[in-house]
Amino acid sequence: MILKDKNIILGVTGGIAAYKALELTRLLNKKGANVYPVMTKSAAEFIAPLSFQTLSGNPVFTELFDASRDASIRHIDIAEKADIIIIAPATANVIGKAANGIADDLLTTIIMASKCPKLFAPAMNVNMYENPIVQKNISRLKRVGYSFAGPCEGELACGYEGKGRLAPIEDIIDAAEECLSPKDMKGQKVLVTAGPTREAIDPVRFISNPSSGKMGYAIARAAKRRGAEVVLVSGHSYLKQPTGITFVDVITADEMADAAMRHYPQSTVVIMAAAVSDYKPKTSYRKKVKKEETKLTVELERTQDILQEMGNKKRGQFLVGFALETDDVIANARKKLEAKRLDLIVANNPKGFDKDVNQVTIIDKSGGVIELPQLQKDEIAERVLDIVVKGIEG
Ligand code: CTP
Repeated sequence: MILKDKNIILGVTGGIAAYKALELTRLLNKKGANVYPVMTKSAAEFIAPLSFQTLSGNPVFTELFDASRDASIRHIDIAEKADIIIIAPATANVIGKAANGIADDLLTTIIMASKCPKLFAPAMNVNMYENPIVQKNISRLKRVGYSFAGPCEGELACGYEGKGRLAPIEDIIDAAEECLSPKDMKGQKVLVTAGPTREAIDPVRFISNPSSGKMGYAIARAAKRRGAEVVLVSGHSYLKQPTGITFVDVITADEMADAAMRHYPQSTVVIMAAAVSDYKPKTSYRKKVKKEETKLTVELERTQDILQEMGNKKRGQFLVGFALETDDVIANARKKLEAKRLDLIVANNPKGFDKDVNQVTIIDKSGGVIELPQLQKDEIAERVLDIVVKGIEG
């Protein structure tokens, strides 16, 4: 959503990871961005420009075409229209040139001529990456506000092992979205809970629910993009741990309560998206229960209501709850909002479990009701945070 209709110049420089920029082009395109690939001469040795042209749907600018005057005028047009320049893969060479004011080819000229945000995704041999000159160049670019995604540790094409691999494509896209997000949550300390809790019956069985954590993770990532310091307390989830946040993984409702209450006092915003189990077995068997009896009764007792506890101890935190309802959605959500002393509650229904989309209704403490259409959870996260930001400011 953040990248929709954005003009992105994708600078591709000469490294073996250049082929990964094809997938980056495809995914940026899928997110609705207009991608204008600019390849250096050596990048065009690795990958044919036609591949980028086909995937981006736009002409590819390389040095080869620069003889034409018309083409050079169009380059400047694009540089001016660009919302962001992503250089992926970025070699030590392009980093060095950009850091030292050298503009001796099309890409470095565009980088220098444009005022939009720039994001470098370096990929190179580990010794090159660790070279103090390269490190100095990276620090220099960071100091003037250029962003970096990666590189990561791992096996390198040159046969070495170490830091120098191109960051995963999703991380580069996350970083681009972060560059383009408003920083309206800067200074906020946001605590998010996500996912299900598991309450053990015995070592191999537990009570839980189908929550995937997708909603809470989307909120944590969005808050981080918007400049907040984020703590994500997550129950069991198969999702990738978001980067750049404090991540606490827990299993049970008790563990989630401990972790969340530990971070609560210093938080300014709390968003409880977790599907916390309301009950746990009174006794959890130490050994696997064998199927000897025809019936087995498991006695359950209540877990702590974390959000209720937070409401009771509220000291200026902006509290957001989720209400999972099957009936009387708005009325039931309102009751929870009042009982738990929340500022906002997001009512949703169990159909959203484990899906990438959901339909939610947002209710605030003064009675305002916003019914959103079915949206991607990433988009719901942004909409919820828009309302949180207004609530904090106002
Ligand atoms: N919640 C919590 N601790 C619990 C149960 C729920 O902090 N033990 C939080 C959830 O994370 C959510 C909100 O309270 O933000 C509402 O959760 P929900 O399951 O919809 O409602 P409950 O309060 O558990 O009430 P009920 O199950 O009766 O609908």
